[in-house]
Amino acid sequence: MDWVRQSLGADWMAFENILKTALDTPHALLTTIDQYILNRPGKQIRPALALSAAGVCGTPGPLSHAVAAIAEMIHTASLLHDDVADNAQTRRGKESVQKQFGPRAAIMLGDFWLARALQILIQHNGTHLLPLYANVIEDLSEGEIFQMEKAKTLDITLADYYTVCKKKTASLFHVSVMSGVLSVPNSSTTETYRPFLSRAAYHMGMAFQIRDDLADVTQDLAEAKITLPLLGALRQAGDERFRPQVILWIRSLEKEDLTAHDQLISFIKDHKGREYAQKVFNHHKEQARERIGHLPNSVWKECLLTISDM
Ligand code: FPP
Ligand code: MG
Repeated sequence: MDWVRQSLGADWMAFENILKTALDTPHALLTTIDQYILNRPGKQIRPALALSAAGVCGTPGPLSHAVAAIAEMIHTASLLHDDVADNAQTRRGKESVQKQFGPRAAIMLGDFWLARALQILIQHNGTHLLPLYANVIEDLSEGEIFQMEKAKTLDITLADYYTVCKKKTASLFHVSVMSGVLSVPNSSTTETYRPFLSRAAYHMGMAFQIRDDLADVTQDLAEAKITLPLLGALRQAGDERFRPQVILWIRSLEKEDLTAHDQLISFIKDHKGREYAQKVFNHHKEQARERIGHLPNSVWKECLLTISDM
């Protein structure tokens, strides 16, 4: 990602400047928590996607820098709320905001970042992009609620799982890219490249969430979240036959029965659930790279290829 940031050069710096000033406030507590977050920024994939997509379609300008910041701000707001929903103790290797400053502050700060993101849009004359943002915030919330519902009923199917990934992750990847595309003056090149960029964004988002779920399978099971490694194992073992047993294990795990944890992990191992998830991940990654391959050679295309090579 360092290479991507360096390649994006002045455009990356302009994005960072907007992000810094977007959060200016006279309130000491807000400033303290903002700094706490900005000191551990994460990979900032979404702004990199927005700026690269803008570069593919034309010359990135102030609105491109703004949409990059908006994508990162919406993402941060959603994580602030997600950590409250998941009661997460850590984020990006340090205490989560909700752990360090309390869940109320985390929720309010998420609202504040969301509001400031919309202010940035207005300041940069980007209100024609408002429908994109209204849709994506709706998708993020629906994806999260749907996942919560399924963590209660434990009847999530593979199709449901892909719906959750699409709504809670691929949607913002998609809007990051499309807002980048729409931030440069419309041209015939934009029309040509738009479908490739759109599909690439979707597949990168799906791949990204599946990779995250492969890394977090133990933690997710502890939260009764059934993700692709377990769904893949169920698919290969026979869902109808094994689901009741899996549900029993998850219920026991909720009561902190550690043998149930080991049994679930063995089940995933025996029925090659990780391998299943890895295959789906590879599929999305390849699909993304195939679409990016259709774009004209440029540093922006190289940035997209680097991001997709995760
Ligand atoms: C992380 O997923 C969470 C998301 C990708 C979306 C969360 C969305 C909301 C909380 C809806 C509210 C939205 C706004 C804009 C305020 P994860 O729990 O799988 O990932 P993690 O391991 O990083 O926590
Ligand atoms: Mg979470």
